[in-house]
Amino acid sequence: MENVLITGTTSGIGKAFAEKFASMGNNIILVSRDMQKLKQQQLYLQNQYHVTVNLIAYDLTKEDAADLIMEQIGNWNIPIDFLVNNAGFNECGLFSQTDISKEIKMIDLHIRFITQLTKRILSIMEKNNYGHILNIGSTGSFIPSPSDAVYSATKAYIMSFSNALYGEYRNTRIKITLLCPGATETEFARKANIEQTLLFKYAVMKPDKVVKIAYPKIIKGKRFIIPGIYNKLLVFFSKIMPIDITNKLTMIMMNSH
Ligand SMILES: NC(=O)c1ccc[n+]([C@@H]2O[C@H](COP(=O)([O-])OP(=O)(O)OC[C@H]3O[C@@H](n4cnc5c(N)ncnc54)[C@H](OP(=O)(O)O)[C@@H]3O)[C@@H](O)[C@H]2O)c1
Repeated sequence: MENVLITGTTSGIGKAFAEKFASMGNNIILVSRDMQKLKQQQLYLQNQYHVTVNLIAYDLTKEDAADLIMEQIGNWNIPIDFLVNNAGFNECGLFSQTDISKEIKMIDLHIRFITQLTKRILSIMEKNNYGHILNIGSTGSFIPSPSDAVYSATKAYIMSFSNALYGEYRNTRIKITLLCPGATETEFARKANIEQTLLFKYAVMKPDKVVKIAYPKIIKGKRFIIPGIYNKLLVFFSKIMPIDITNKLTMIMMNSH
């Protein structure tokens, strides 16, 4: 039994991970903004799996979010064995037309917050000489995306950050894994108003399936995971195709049909 801290658990991939980790008998700390949804999730997981579930409701784009989480887990005296950096969102569209305040919040959440929290949690893991961090990237981590420029750039940061940490900890008992899902049927596309794009019309995976594929690989300590053959092919071809072609194809995928 481990203590698992997961960000962004009230829907989608984070919710599916919370259920998976709880079903394996782990105690969970759920972190998201919506306290009402968190309480419902806590009741469900505790009743269903008889594990301890603690809650932190906070906006992780706030500057003091990592401090607040560390203070809370310190007060509870819970040593974190597993961190899932999952919370995220998208502000999509041509860069000249997107909302810069949302993009800055995205950079705050996907880059600044993850960096701060990971550093603080790693210091606990180093003391215990044990731990695992799972970072949620995206197929967009590999593909600079016209019509989604800032999102894909933040996910490229997460990939680079995660792979570099993997190198730093590879001969220790601390594991670092990067999971790069493609289009997944969660609240993500609806919130970003991209449900009608080609990307979200075909080969969309259910979050439970993402977790089902990824979980055994995560536990083995794999460096990175791309769930599903379609997503693997997407990444493969994006690596071998000239940028002009991937740019054009990405524009088509991000357009509404
Ligand atoms: N869905 C996809 O197609 C897809 C593809 C590749 C990668 N991903 C990545 O997968 C991760 C999970 O996304 P999802 O698809 O599961 O989306 P989702 O259903 O919208 O879930 C996002 C979760 O993050 C939380 N969250 C968002 N902003 C937050 C903030 N400022 N502070 C605290 N919590 C916040 C939300 O909770 P509250 O709103 O209750 O706070 C929610 O629980 C993200 O990192 C996303 O980039 C998704």
